[in-house]
Amino acid sequence: MADVELIKSHLTAHPDFPKKGIVFLDIFPILRNPVAFETLITHLVHHLTSHTAATAPSKKIDVIVGLDARGFLLGPIIALRLGAAFVPVRKKGKLPGECVSAEYEKEYGTDSFEMQADAIKPGQSVVVVDDLIATGGSAKAAGELIAKQGGKTLEYLFIIELMFLKGGSKLDAPVYSIVQSD
Ligand code: ADE
Repeated sequence: MADVELIKSHLTAHPDFPKKGIVFLDIFPILRNPVAFETLITHLVHHLTSHTAATAPSKKIDVIVGLDARGFLLGPIIALRLGAAFVPVRKKGKLPGECVSAEYEKEYGTDSFEMQADAIKPGQSVVVVDDLIATGGSAKAAGELIAKQGGKTLEYLFIIELMFLKGGSKLDAPVYSIVQSD
């Protein structure tokens, strides 16, 4: 597909960033190019609204949840195009008011994600968005926050999936990714 090739051609790989042994895949060149950025958003929205999407297209998507931090760059645009709400999941201590929290594993120790306690209503259909899935720990924590509020996660949406880390196997709903990297 031409749109996938265009999106792929705007990804850059940075060996040994942020530390030795990691090849960091950078999505920002996509955002620097309005045609590539538009193609990316249109591709993701088309996936969510198409009749072959894993999200059961008859089901309305009520909420797009974006993960701290690059999920904030994609999620609000997708939400607006769908007429859905946008809800951020942030690192602990950043959101005002009552919050629900969930811990997730990092390379060293654990960290905590939070969502505002009234952000999702019981029964709402939710899609989680981030730029990349690695081990799946942060996406899993987001899924727990959605479930705690009675929401139903339909799908986890990413630009890039690091296949060798098998992050999708941790999650309670299917993963959709545009680029699969080994
Ligand atoms: N987050 C975790 N692993 C990553 C990688 N290889 N590139 C970009 N973001 C990441």
